[in-house]
Amino acid sequence: MRSTTVLALCATALLPSAFSTPINPRHAHQSFPNTDQWPLATVGKALEQQLPDEDLRNIISQISRANIEATVRKLAAFGTRHTLSSQTDPHRGIGAARTWLTAKFQEAADASEGRMSVDWNSFIKYPGDNERIIFPVNITNVVATLKGSEDADRFYVTGGHYDSRNSNPIDYQGDAPGAVDDASGVAISLELARIFAAFKPKATIVFTAFAGEEQGLLGADNLAQTYKNNSVNVAGMINLDMLGNSKAEDGTTDPYNIRLFCQGVPLTENATTTTSRLSIGGDNDSPARNLGRHIYEVASNAFTEMTVRIIYRLDRYSRGGDHRPFLEAGYTGVRFVQPNEDYTQQHQNVTVRSGKQYGDLVEWLDFEYNTRAAKVVASTMWSLANAPGEPTNVGINVTTSDNFSQFKWDAPVGLPVEGYEIVYRETISPHWTNVIEVGDVNWYNLTSATIHKDNVIFGVRSVGKGGYKSPAVLPFPFGCIRNC
Ligand SMILES: *[C@@H]1O[C@H](CO)[C@@H](O)[C@H](O)[C@H]1NC(C)=O
Ligand SMILES: *[C@@H]1O[C@H](CO)[C@@H](O)[C@H](O)[C@H]1NC(C)=O
Ligand SMILES: *[C@@H]1O[C@H](CO)[C@@H](O)[C@H](O)[C@H]1NC(C)=O
Ligand SMILES: *[C@@H]1O[C@H](CO)[C@@H](O)[C@H](O)[C@H]1NC(C)=O
Ligand SMILES: *[C@@H]1O[C@H](CO)[C@@H](O)[C@H](O)[C@H]1NC(C)=O
Ligand SMILES: *[C@@H]1O[C@H](CO)[C@@H](O)[C@H](O)[C@H]1NC(C)=O
Ligand SMILES: *[C@@H]1O[C@H](CO)[C@@H](O)[C@H](O)[C@H]1NC(C)=O
Ligand SMILES: [Zn+2]
Repeated sequence: MRSTTVLALCATALLPSAFSTPINPRHAHQSFPNTDQWPLATVGKALEQQLPDEDLRNIISQISRANIEATVRKLAAFGTRHTLSSQTDPHRGIGAARTWLTAKFQEAADASEGRMSVDWNSFIKYPGDNERIIFPVNITNVVATLKGSEDADRFYVTGGHYDSRNSNPIDYQGDAPGAVDDASGVAISLELARIFAAFKPKATIVFTAFAGEEQGLLGADNLAQTYKNNSVNVAGMINLDMLGNSKAEDGTTDPYNIRLFCQGVPLTENATTTTSRLSIGGDNDSPARNLGRHIYEVASNAFTEMTVRIIYRLDRYSRGGDHRPFLEAGYTGVRFVQPNEDYTQQHQNVTVRSGKQYGDLVEWLDFEYNTRAAKVVASTMWSLANAPGEPTNVGINVTTSDNFSQFKWDAPVGLPVEGYEIVYRETISPHWTNVIEVGDVNWYNLTSATIHKDNVIFGVRSVGKGGYKSPAVLPFPFGCIRNC
């Protein structure tokens, strides 16, 4: 198994920590906490991050700041895109925005030689249990599906929401330009649809613009349920919500960082599985967290000029996002969001009070930032869709208490695997630090007593052609679960 097609190039990795640091540096003068007493890792090698291949560098180079800016300006110019606003006015309201977006996604599809198709995922939401729906309303997601060239049954979904709101969640008439929230995310989805349409990613990528987000994540919920009802394998949902500006309310900027919210223990996991997960300290290695670690590894680099900052939370305090209904449907979902928020600009009427401008206006946008965010998302989607799926039934043998770690797993369906890697890190480390290349096998017995299963966290990941890796999977104990 070779994973050397990964291009080292001249890229200076921007990663601050894990990759260049051995698992246990014996610095002469350790600051607190002193980890000198911990054993030095001797198995495998320091993990090297996966940098963009030629196709991905080509994709990144095509991401156009001008296109992203034009989309944000166009969407803001619909006045409001409130879910309850006009469906029929040709210039103002969500109907006009939907028509325009559908035509733009269709333009992308027209250049795809039949690989991309654009559909409406549409339903009527009636008032009742939801106080933000005050009359029956047509909620329509625009969904552009780029069929995978070799593993079309594995889907990765990305997108933002094109609906908007102001101070009052049911004010569907007042202006709500929604430039940052979330024209910035939709602009990335559309720009990547345009560029990816000319490429042939191996798994299927779906570029969406959701509606009904501000009324309760309604559009994303309908799409997640549609996929679930049709047994679609959505291997990851990457929500893009507010990626237009790095500036905080006090004016400080943080233009080279992007937050990625990653949920812990899966919302739909059954009690048996959670008990097993907690028995091995696996609560920090949910599919969403390991998807986040993967995104950090493939998208924090000199090509994107960004560092992905993982946050161990589903979302911000008392806020929601379109990845949540995917998590609730049993899928893995994470959310990108800009590093800072200015609450005088989001969910606000467009108004001036005491000389201060409120509202979610185009003039707040940092289009350079929005463009770099698009590069992060491009790296994420390309890397996921060209790797094999994750290994399944990943287990660690705990039949007897011993110094060995025997793993077993099954091959993913779909795209062939060239081999597997066992990655590991200290339990308190955020990111994988070491990797053991084990070849194209389905089990591995790690006989080193220095890397002991009791002291580190392991993951198993697939490696495909070109060195593309899947996210890692936490091995669950088999044999004897407890008290043995
Ligand atoms: C929503 O409106 C669009 C545009 O008129 C229409 O094509 C679609 O069928 C409607 N959806 C439903 C569920 O009625
Ligand atoms: C926002 O504007 C609407 C009119 O569009 C008005 O009814 C409402 O009182 C305003 N709310 C705030 C908090 O300014
Ligand atoms: C999914 O299936 C459930 C159960 O049959 C049904 O109630 C629901 O309306 C379906 N949702 C969608 C979006 O297809
Ligand atoms: C719990 O979930 C696991 C993994 O999906 C499954 O194998 C097992 O059958 C489930 N157990 C119960 C009791 O539902
Ligand atoms: C698990 O390990 C025990 C010895 O500790 C061994 O007898 C057993 O065969 C292993 N199970 C599998 C499935 O390899
Ligand atoms: C496990 O490794 C430790 C440290 O090398 C050693 O002292 C101990 O005897 C080993 N235990 C078994 C059961 O091999
Ligand atoms: C793992 O390897 C060790 C050392 O060769 C051996 O003693 C042990 O039985 C092996 N365990 C399994 C489950 O194969
Ligand atoms: Zn939003």
